[in-house]
Amino acid sequence: GITRHYDFNVEMANATRLCTTKSMVTVNGQCPGPELVAREGDRAVIRVTNNVAHNITLHWHGIRQLRTGWADGPAYITQCPIQTGQSYVYNFTITGQRGTLWWHAHISWLRSTVYGALVVLPKLGVPYPFPAPHEEVPIIFGEWWNADTEVVVSQAIQTGAGPNVSDAFTINGLPGPLYNCSAQDTFKLKVKPGKTYMLRLINAALNDELFFSIANHTLTIVEVDAVYVKPFTVDTLIISPGQTTNVLLTTKPYYPGANFYMTAAPYSTARPGTFDNTTVAGILEYENPFSPSAASFIKSLPLFKPTLPRINDTDFVTNFTNKLRSLATAQYPAAVPQSVDRRFFFTVGLGTLPCPANMTCQGPNGTQMAASMNNVSFVLPSKALLHSHFTGLSSGVYASDFPVTPLSPFNYTGTPPNNTHVKTGTKLLVLAYNTTVELVMQDTSILGIESHPLHLHGFNFFVVGQGIGNYDAVNDPAKFNLVDPVERNTVGVPAGGWVAIRFLADNPGVWFMHCHLEAHTTWGLRMAWLVLDGSQPDQKLLPPPSDLPKC
Ligand code: C2O
Repeated sequence: GITRHYDFNVEMANATRLCTTKSMVTVNGQCPGPELVAREGDRAVIRVTNNVAHNITLHWHGIRQLRTGWADGPAYITQCPIQTGQSYVYNFTITGQRGTLWWHAHISWLRSTVYGALVVLPKLGVPYPFPAPHEEVPIIFGEWWNADTEVVVSQAIQTGAGPNVSDAFTINGLPGPLYNCSAQDTFKLKVKPGKTYMLRLINAALNDELFFSIANHTLTIVEVDAVYVKPFTVDTLIISPGQTTNVLLTTKPYYPGANFYMTAAPYSTARPGTFDNTTVAGILEYENPFSPSAASFIKSLPLFKPTLPRINDTDFVTNFTNKLRSLATAQYPAAVPQSVDRRFFFTVGLGTLPCPANMTCQGPNGTQMAASMNNVSFVLPSKALLHSHFTGLSSGVYASDFPVTPLSPFNYTGTPPNNTHVKTGTKLLVLAYNTTVELVMQDTSILGIESHPLHLHGFNFFVVGQGIGNYDAVNDPAKFNLVDPVERNTVGVPAGGWVAIRFLADNPGVWFMHCHLEAHTTWGLRMAWLVLDGSQPDQKLLPPPSDLPKC
């Protein structure tokens, strides 16, 4: 591989959407930020310089960071933030993976405007396991707030309530014509008839899983989270925050000049009023070989618009996710751990904290909103966990006692317990090098069932099973798929259900795992694994780079 150098300058820039102008944090003045392109086997060297008044870190979402956790990026987990006026060089090699990933800020809510595509092409001369597309196009879903998102989140924290929902969803930064004062800000994908395009879909939205469809066209799913899947064709797909999906779109032979909407709108089972149910639209625009007057007539015709599933259509989501399968070929094997060293069961859900004395809280019954795994609402430390581990100075920073027994069992998807309070803590779960892990994550009904897109840093995992209702430890494992389960880095814990994943802990370091709905992460739906060094020299975490920021 070669080395790819990038300069990412974190700087303020003005943007106007929905007739509102705001100054916001960007990389190089752009939102979405610059696309990072490399090939499998390349080294990426990204110099990030902070020219804004906020602390910043960047995360390379889905990059495994084998032994280079120092470059992973979550603030206070693998590094202290880059302070104003400082820089830090993220330096990592992209080993054994190719496909669509993305990068984003990993501190507070700055990822609302600091994100971009990270495209890893196959090694030179290695084809895709499907016919080469005519063109490849990143399609990044985001969210736009008229207000400053740092103000939105700090108000939410100060009132113990849920944050305000966004004012619009966006495609490549543009809300599109279904919002007021927005038609001029519409993403247009210009296509030729009879060609195949590969869309690299990325859900960078903060708080919403999204349905996506293009009117009168089908989409063939070929990859999720930078892992090839057995192709299948749909009208509509679901993509959760953190996830990426490559689809092939074959244009019609004879639609010259016609236009079709592509739309995305949320999937959510949260109680009405707590989610955003607006729709972003872009336009698929066929090239027009006609005279200008014929062309403008065609442009004046109404556009075809897709019908998306209803907002709480969990059946659609279950059906779709059940279709995802690894390729599992000789060239792209599915290395599913067939035996398990350690089994875990985590409850995943919402909860509350007693209202602090100095606050008036707007959560249920005057409490502070919280979220937890196994009843622990994770508190970010003031020093980085990885450095504390590496230097052996963990006291006062973290404890290694993440509870492996969940809150006392109840009917997780039925009537919730009366006590909704959770505990706070900075607790890690320690794994020996090369441990095979099976983890069942169970949604709870506390304050309502809801799907949680859980993201694991540092690893891909296999989704060996999922179901609705309570996990049945006696009968469900017999149904696990250990042959061709989908391999990914972010999975939805089904609303009112459970998901089972397996992974091999072959990457020493401290690895964050959290709900990629930013509101839930803020409320504490997060934890970290500590994977110890192996005995061989190439099984150890590398030492930190000399420019690693200090807290
Ligand atoms: Cu894409 Cu920890 O995040």
